Amino acid sequence: MKLLFLGDVVGRSGRTAIQETLPRLREAWKLDFVVVNGENATNGAGLSAEHAKLILAAGADVITLGDHAFDQKDMMSFIEQENRIIRPINYARSAPGKGYRIFDAPGGRKVLVAQVLGQVFMSRPYDDPFSAIETVLKTHRAGGLVQASIIDVHCEATSEKMAMGHWCDGKASLVVGTHTHVATADAQILPGGTAHLSDAGMCGDYNSVIGMDKAEPLRRFVTGMSKGRFQPAKGEATLSGVYVETDDRTGMATRIEMVRQGGTLQQSGPGPV
Ligand SMILES: [Fe+2]
Ligand SMILES: [Fe+2]
Repeated sequence: MKLLFLGDVVGRSGRTAIQETLPRLREAWKLDFVVVNGENATNGAGLSAEHAKLILAAGADVITLGDHAFDQKDMMSFIEQENRIIRPINYARSAPGKGYRIFDAPGGRKVLVAQVLGQVFMSRPYDDPFSAIETVLKTHRAGGLVQASIIDVHCEATSEKMAMGHWCDGKASLVVGTHTHVATADAQILPGGTAHLSDAGMCGDYNSVIGMDKAEPLRRFVTGMSKGRFQPAKGEATLSGVYVETDDRTGMATRIEMVRQGGTLQQSGPGPV
C-alpha cells in the first residue's frame, strides 16, 4: 500500500497548502491512504469542524489531533459525528471520540490508525503510552486483520518517539512522530519491518518559530515578557511528512521517503509531482 502521513497543519498557511497540494500528491504518487495531523490547523490551536471538513475534502482519509485536540470547542461534539478524526488514545478517559479506528482502503483493504501522547516534557501527565499502544497492536497487528497500520506518536522527546518505534517494530507499518513541528532526518525501516520517522515536521510556514509569526516568540525569548498572543505565520507552507510503501501480506514497510513539498524547505518526496 502507498501511504502518506503529513505533520501538524498550522493555521491558514498550512490549510491552503493542504488544499492546493494534497490532491496533486494523491494523484502523482498514486496514494492509497493519507493521514494528516490537524491539531494546529485553526489559528494555530486546535481544529474546528469547518477546517476538519476542508482537510478531509482535500484528500485526507483520516485526521489525527494531539494535546491541542479540543482547543476548538466544537471538536468536542464534531469528533462524535465524524469517524475520520482520531484523538490521542491516552488523552483522558472522559474525552469524546476514539484513540484508534480501522478504516477502509481501496481494494477492500483495512488500515488501522492510532494516536498516542508521550509523557516526557509534556504539559499534562498522560497515561502510559506504551501499554496503551500494546493493547491496540495485540488485536490489530499489521499483516493480520489489517493490511497496514499508522501510529502517530505525539510528543516532545525524540528519545520517546524512537523508543515507541522499537516498541511497535514488527507489529505496525509506520510509527511517526508529531508535535514538535520540526522534522527529524532519521526516516528508516526498523529491523522488524516497521517504518519510523521520529518527527514528521509541520505543514506550515517555516519562516517562523515552529509555525508562529516570529515577532512574539522572539520577544518572549529575548526579553522574557509577552506582548500578545502567538499568531500563525502567513508565508507559503511546506507540506512535511513521510511516504511509505507496505507489503499487504506482512503489513511491513518496503520503502520510506521523507516528504517536503512547497515553501522554503529543501524539497523531497518519492517522485515528481
Ligand atoms: Fe501537540
Ligand atoms: Fe502541533
